Amino acid sequence: MKLVFATNNLNKLQEVQEMLSGHIQLVSLKDIGCFEDIPETAKTLEGNAKIKADHITEHYGYNCFADDTGLEVHSLNGAPGVHSARYGGEPRDAHKNMDKLLKNLIGKEDRSAQFRTIITLNLNGKHYHFEGICKGYILNTKRGDGGFGYDPVFQPEGFESSFAEMSFETKNKISHRGLAVKKLVDFLNSIN
Ligand code: IMP
Repeated sequence: MKLVFATNNLNKLQEVQEMLSGHIQLVSLKDIGCFEDIPETAKTLEGNAKIKADHITEHYGYNCFADDTGLEVHSLNGAPGVHSARYGGEPRDAHKNMDKLLKNLIGKEDRSAQFRTIITLNLNGKHYHFEGICKGYILNTKRGDGGFGYDPVFQPEGFESSFAEMSFETKNKISHRGLAVKKLVDFLNSIN
């Protein structure tokens, strides 16, 4: 069975493909000839993941899954959340995003936060949702130069290092995206 992963990030695609048993062949947006920018206009992660998956199923006729991720900071009432990618303004820039976040947290005692990933799967006319959460804290300063996005300012619960100071393998085992993907893969492997 062919299944579209609504992404053009080949690293993400390969990572999920390697976790799946042989009966599912993952294909990217490019593989199905989709080169449009699908607008992510919803106010929630769930909404945006659904928009992407539904767009592919409705316009291209494929079973499909899509993901959306946000960083939710407790003392900022869940911000930047669904706006994580462009929190610091256009054009999107990880350092501008982190600088704004650190500034907005000056003087706040509660620095607890979580990354949350939602995956929406459209499979043979049915919709499924998978959630992965990684709880942690926003550091006072950036630490480490690995990873991407907010990794230098996020320290997961139970660890002494930021995401940006961890190996890719360690982060993947505990990360929001890793956990959501594991739930998706377990489900797909179980229905064969
Ligand atoms: P996306 O839905 O995967 O594109 O994620 C939206 C935004 O959330 C990204 O542009 C990043 O700013 C941030 N983000 C998502 N996942 C991570 C992560 O694992 N580490 C750090 N930042 C992330």
